[in-house]
Amino acid sequence: MTKQFVWKQAGTLAILFLMCGFMVNIPFAFAQTPSAQPPSEKEIHQRVDELLKKMTLEEKVGQLSQLFGLRAPKDLDDQVATGKVGSLLFFTDPAEINRLQHLAVDHSRLHIPLIFGFDVIHGFRTIFPIPLAMAASWDPVLATQEQTIAAKEARAVGIDWAFAPMLDIARDPRWGRMMEGAGEDPYLGSAMAAAQVRGFQGEYIGTQDHVLACMKHFAGYGAAEGGRDYDASYIPEDLMYNVYLPPFHAAVKAGVGSAMSAYMDLNDVPATGNRWLLHDVLREQWKFTGFVVSDADAVKSLETHGYAKNLYDAAKIALNAGVDMEMALGSTAYSANLLKAVKDRQVTEKQIEDAARPILEMKMRLGLFDHPYVDETRSREILATAEHRKVERKVAERTTVLLRNEGGLLPLKKDAYKKVAVIGPLADSQLDTLGSWVFQEDLKETVTILAGIRDKVGTQAEVKWAPGVQISRKFPSFFDDILHVTHPPAWTPEQTKEEMSKAVNLASSSDVTILVLGEGQDMIGEAASKESLDLPGHEEELLENVAATGKPVVLLLMNGRPLNIKWAAQHVPAILEIWYPGTQGGNAVANVVFGDAVPGGKLPFTWARDVGQIPINYAHNRTQSPEDQGKRYWDEESTPLYPFGYGLSYSAFQFSNLKIGRSEVKPGDSVDVVVDLENTGNSAADEVAQLYIHQQWGSASRPVRELKGFQRVALAPHEKKTLHFTLGKDELSYWSTAKKDWVEESSVFDVWAGGDSNAPLHTTFTVTQ
Ligand code: NOJ
Repeated sequence: MTKQFVWKQAGTLAILFLMCGFMVNIPFAFAQTPSAQPPSEKEIHQRVDELLKKMTLEEKVGQLSQLFGLRAPKDLDDQVATGKVGSLLFFTDPAEINRLQHLAVDHSRLHIPLIFGFDVIHGFRTIFPIPLAMAASWDPVLATQEQTIAAKEARAVGIDWAFAPMLDIARDPRWGRMMEGAGEDPYLGSAMAAAQVRGFQGEYIGTQDHVLACMKHFAGYGAAEGGRDYDASYIPEDLMYNVYLPPFHAAVKAGVGSAMSAYMDLNDVPATGNRWLLHDVLREQWKFTGFVVSDADAVKSLETHGYAKNLYDAAKIALNAGVDMEMALGSTAYSANLLKAVKDRQVTEKQIEDAARPILEMKMRLGLFDHPYVDETRSREILATAEHRKVERKVAERTTVLLRNEGGLLPLKKDAYKKVAVIGPLADSQLDTLGSWVFQEDLKETVTILAGIRDKVGTQAEVKWAPGVQISRKFPSFFDDILHVTHPPAWTPEQTKEEMSKAVNLASSSDVTILVLGEGQDMIGEAASKESLDLPGHEEELLENVAATGKPVVLLLMNGRPLNIKWAAQHVPAILEIWYPGTQGGNAVANVVFGDAVPGGKLPFTWARDVGQIPINYAHNRTQSPEDQGKRYWDEESTPLYPFGYGLSYSAFQFSNLKIGRSEVKPGDSVDVVVDLENTGNSAADEVAQLYIHQQWGSASRPVRELKGFQRVALAPHEKKTLHFTLGKDELSYWSTAKKDWVEESSVFDVWAGGDSNAPLHTTFTVTQ
């Protein structure tokens, strides 16, 4: 649709408004334009109050319904035009978005615009590394930059609302959705939460080229029993407050405008019917003023869980608990039941109005009442610009984590090899390079690892690829249908043998092998849990066969959770974690492999040796015989393969002079911590300085270490910097089950600073009344 067309529509609209004796205070509507400053809150409240006064109960209930574009009901247009739907999701074509928006604005009695939501998880058209990788960058500024671009691309097609960031703490890598979050730690998770909210929403909700963020899944979804997606979580109150809730609280403090309730039972009360979570914590304790949307069909699921007798009951329970908008496929339980529930006095009209109010306010803040349409021509200029791709490449480089580098094999010298073998099923797959939760990518723009390496070495070397193995799920992913993914036919046993030999022969006849192993994009994400952490299919066999050639091998891991790489960690000289590196992934990875970028990422989780160690996280309590912590099992070390916060560099770093400002402070005081960090190597590189504490005694047993500060620092060769950290009330308090409150107790605190959670540099200070 052209600009003239939009103007023509707007003109027609104005005439229509006049003819209808337009009653609502909505100015002339045209394409989305900048709002240079935050709208006045007073004006928003007034306008929404006025609007609510004019709305019928049916219209208010309509605002509480959100429907999918997938499996949309046949009468969707009619529902939109009569104000029976307040929001739509999974629409991405600007012309279709404008068409639907016109139906809402031109035809519904009060001309209330729709709000369009979408899963913009790690990019829209320019696909960034998965969120877990973003956390591995330990660079919140980069996270803001990434989500700013994602927001801009999404908004350019008319999406107003991103269902992100996903803030679920994940301590069980069997859970496939671990890739969507920031890993196991609440402090790192909180920093990434706030940074992403800033990226999506901009300075304020309604900032030009930004969208509304939605923190999800509130809360406790990451603790699903057995790591099985959707299964129940049992989380004691102290873990809830100290571990699972902090990233959400950080997002609320950063001004997040919406929240999505989770699917699972939390301590036997489904999160979507959980008034303690959605009202007591979110609204009362945290003063959240945005709105809550349910996860898809989660209101209806209250019946499935056996928490509601039927859908009527489910709608009533969810509304009473604090779910303002229901997301559903086909139809909502809200639209089918809430009118009757009001009639039956099971819910009040005031409750309906209270749920509709924050939704309308957000629409107003986003500028949708004044500028409901998207400029369809502009989207073409904004999607996947060269600048966006450049940022993406940089992000991908900064997320890589170097796990092993025996004999300094990496970086590979560009002119040292004449024959380079690239081996593995993921090495030349565009879709896998992007990871899961991508819908609007352009595969032609996506640079695979093979393509990136070919481009990097140019004519210096011959680069050949062999997949070696085929990998697939035992039970297919439901996303295959949504994304129309077709898998090639499975190899016959003969082909399987032949392909393995081809790959091994290629490795034998090459000077160096770059092996790309891990999981396919459909093996990770929603409904992608697994019971084993082993490399899928015959990847381990391929790895061991290739290593047995005796040629130098670099293992690149493409994955979104720690896998079992015990053997590789002992036998493969160089291992680089590349995650799912996104649109420019191949170029970024090639830069790191050949030394044009230096890896500086750190693990946002504890890397278990094997699935039997799960759960294993660094912030465990100090218990009986702490000196035997590494020998809790008799058949295997009970220490991790790699600790939380771990990652090597092509350079080397030294921490020294850890000092505390005052060795004794009162509760509420801040403690200054300084430490020197020196790049003792010969390359310019980044180190992530990490600060950990431990409270030696108190009204609860406290974790042996907890991250309470970090900085990613760039250092020239032999440069030394003094770093400053502050430990304040927020860092020194915790939720005590014994006290049923937040406490900051008199105790001695250990402090460590260093490059991972095993940092040895230590000092102490005392908090005393
Ligand atoms: C279900 C997922 O759990 C949620 O994260 C997502 O935002 C919605 N579906 C919408 O796609």
